[in-house]
Amino acid sequence: MTKECVHGSEASGCAIPCKAAVAWEAGKPLVIEKVEVAPPQAMEVRIKVKYTSLCHTDLHFWEAKTPLFPRIFGHEAAGIVESVGEGVDDLKPGDHVLPVFTGECGECRHCLSDESNMCDLLRIDTDRGVMLRDGKSRFSLNGIPINHFLGTSTFSEYTVIHSGCLAKIDPLAPLDKVCILSCGISTGLGATLNVAKPYKGSSVAVFGLGAVGLAAAEGARIAGASRIIGIDSNPRRFEEAKKFGMTEFINPKDHERPVQEVISEMTDGGVDRSVECTGSIDAMISAFECVHDGWGVAVLVGVPNKDAVFRTKPVNFLNERTLKGTFFGNYKPRTDLPSIVDMYMNKKLELDKFITHRVPFSEINKAFEYMMNNQGLRCIISMED
Ligand SMILES: NC(=O)c1ccc[n+]([C@@H]2O[C@H](COP(=O)([O-])OP(=O)(O)OC[C@H]3O[C@@H](n4cnc5c(N)ncnc54)[C@H](O)[C@@H]3O)[C@@H](O)[C@H]2O)c1
Ligand SMILES: [Zn+2]
Ligand SMILES: [Zn+2]
Repeated sequence: MTKECVHGSEASGCAIPCKAAVAWEAGKPLVIEKVEVAPPQAMEVRIKVKYTSLCHTDLHFWEAKTPLFPRIFGHEAAGIVESVGEGVDDLKPGDHVLPVFTGECGECRHCLSDESNMCDLLRIDTDRGVMLRDGKSRFSLNGIPINHFLGTSTFSEYTVIHSGCLAKIDPLAPLDKVCILSCGISTGLGATLNVAKPYKGSSVAVFGLGAVGLAAAEGARIAGASRIIGIDSNPRRFEEAKKFGMTEFINPKDHERPVQEVISEMTDGGVDRSVECTGSIDAMISAFECVHDGWGVAVLVGVPNKDAVFRTKPVNFLNERTLKGTFFGNYKPRTDLPSIVDMYMNKKLELDKFITHRVPFSEINKAFEYMMNNQGLRCIISMED
């Protein structure tokens, strides 16, 4: 039972017919279909998606031959609450929200810990295509259920999400900009601000200059780092990265010796902090070995191949270097995202430079092409154009 249904006369019962971009098969263009979106059940919320953007995780699972097709992808987005299910007391129709691929139930050991954001109940689950409540999908097309993705499925005009995966934000924030805070940008930003924690004047190396790495660089700029060194094996990334306060660039392929040695020489013994945003195990090892002994901290963000093994000499730890990893920049989605939106509203955080393309929903496949061709950083998909 929903508390309130305010979706207007076009809805039959409480299901809403609307457009969604359905992935029928791995790697095949999405098809805009008319689907039915069922009402939210207990602790669920139905939202009208206003803007969504494409992240590598969507692309990765769209390409993957999982058994979960047909599926509605999408997890970086911003929208407005349309109706809420039983037990949802802290959100109401009209609230502006960011959906998040991981959640905050507020009750588990992780949610109660100040140190963790890895909620036991709502932590990311890429293998689940249904809602937790009843193991069923809220999307259907001519009676066929369509799989959800990451509990968000934002490539749809309406979607149903667990209330613990929705952050309520300032209603004045422009949704076509802050939508990119719901995944990649917050991840990189938090990796620097919450985990690496550079102090003013320090040197920071960022490995991988995609959206996540550039968000890590934005965190270094905000923290007042004096040197931000960008490392990428694709030199086409360097031009864009100049907008992010990076002062020096290194392509590991230009050097015969390991890049950590090059960095160590450039910085008189190593950088104060490094943040790895590539997913490459070699870059992870370099990121750790390029920090200064005595105080250097390296943070791993990239998702490696599942068989990858991290090898380094234990003496690197004995020499007082620290290695850390982070998930979603250690932000608790519901508690912390509103304040990141406020950082943007207060002009402390710059977002516009991440947005390189915009397309209407009808052209969503173009966003996939831009990403596959490594063009730009973020493409905003507008649901209403
Ligand atoms: N930990 C988390 O919570 C979390 C969340 C989101 C994304 N991620 C991960 O962060 C990583 C970055 O995401 P993105 O969207 O920015 O990806 P991206 O593909 O846009 O950027 C990665 C960059 O790394 C560069 N690169 C790859 N191997 C390299 C190497 N050995 N040395 C130097 N540069 C190298 C590539 O040229 C590319 O420019 C991915 O692995 C992604 O899965 C992690
Ligand atoms: Zn993402
Ligand atoms: Zn929890």
